[in-house]
Amino acid sequence: MSFSELLEAACTKINPTPESLQNVAAGFEEAMRAGLAGRPSSLPMLPSYIARPTGAERGEALAVDFGGTNVRILNVRLEDGKVRPGESVRFSLKDPDGAYDFTRAETRAEELFDHIAGQIANLAAGASAPLPLGHTFSFPCRQEGINRAVLLFWTKEFRTSGVEGKDVTALLSEALERRGVRNVRPRAIINDTVGTLLAAAYLYRGVEIGSICGTGHNTCYLEPRHPLTGKPMIVNMESGSFDGVVLTTFDRAVDEASSRPGEQLIEKQVSGAYLGEVVLAALRAAAAEGLLPGGPRDWERGTLSGIDLARVLEDEPGCAGARSVAGDRLSLPGLTEQQLAALRKLTESVVGRSAWLVGATYAGILRYLDPGLRQNHVIAVDGSLYEKMPGYQAGIRAGLEAILGAGARGVETRLVKDGSGIGAAIAALVAEGQE
Ligand code: GLC
Repeated sequence: MSFSELLEAACTKINPTPESLQNVAAGFEEAMRAGLAGRPSSLPMLPSYIARPTGAERGEALAVDFGGTNVRILNVRLEDGKVRPGESVRFSLKDPDGAYDFTRAETRAEELFDHIAGQIANLAAGASAPLPLGHTFSFPCRQEGINRAVLLFWTKEFRTSGVEGKDVTALLSEALERRGVRNVRPRAIINDTVGTLLAAAYLYRGVEIGSICGTGHNTCYLEPRHPLTGKPMIVNMESGSFDGVVLTTFDRAVDEASSRPGEQLIEKQVSGAYLGEVVLAALRAAAAEGLLPGGPRDWERGTLSGIDLARVLEDEPGCAGARSVAGDRLSLPGLTEQQLAALRKLTESVVGRSAWLVGATYAGILRYLDPGLRQNHVIAVDGSLYEKMPGYQAGIRAGLEAILGAGARGVETRLVKDGSGIGAAIAALVAEGQE
């Protein structure tokens, strides 16, 4: 077998069949029902204690958007159903030159939140009246109220000590106090999917599903009658933890090398943090068979980013994108055009599977909400994969159509940028309104 043949065989293993997509949609729908009813399920179906905004919310709020190594703080004003973003800062929790890294296990919760509080203090310095603060914290939390969320466990390879099992609002409030910030009051804490849904519902009405397809993957929806309250409530499904998709040998290798083996299984098949790892796993299989042109290589985790994959998929003559990624990232210069085409095809399979699987989970949610698919539905999506990865939006559509057939006609997925920041501000103002 040649290098190209092995990669072709890997594609066959990775590409989902129409039947397997149907199984994912049906399994997802069942896992939703089980999770909501408190039966064993890979979907924790976490309550958010917030429903859809009315559109009448108004005022000024600060939003903290913390869901990855880049944190953003922004000032948002809501007025007459419009969103007016004001000043904002963006900062990294990891210094590119290695001076600090707030995501490592050696960092304590206090250090992480002091750093964030310092940035909030700078942005809020000029505020005359006290500002409500909404916090988008995009990790799995046991939500105990609109302003209380206990981190269950880190995802996305975060490891900071002393945050798991703690109320994140308390950690932030204590840091603000230590810093002497008195003009900011944390009011609400939400997941980024919830933020996306809130922002979309505020701007467009009628939206009932919010999703992130970026570094991580997750979806929330508006449960019409939540078992806790009997009223509408947004449910953060933590759908990245769905375990109903068959794993290939490559997925197993990615899972084993991750910080939480056995957990977040579909996330490791679909999200931006892991897609490059799946491609590398297939390339390592070629290396193990002695098929890698120019002899074995040892690639570190993170060698192939989502941006690299997007470059491989760019439609350029002679697979120019694939050639530069092979040379610069994989130390595989001098691949033949056939070998580059095989690398491109492998990348297409890994990225395509991600989009189809996401489409299949959306189909499961839609069937749960509207079994006969009689109404139109809008799914609000944010995230780098959805926004920038070539072919991704079309792949989700293809997944939806493969499962729902003509029923997919009334379903629209729509990019809602920055929903996680804007949604936090909306949540803070909704919380103030509830007082
Ligand atoms: C991870 C987190 C989840 C978040 C998603 C997208 O799956 O666990 O809470 O919504 O990433 O950022």
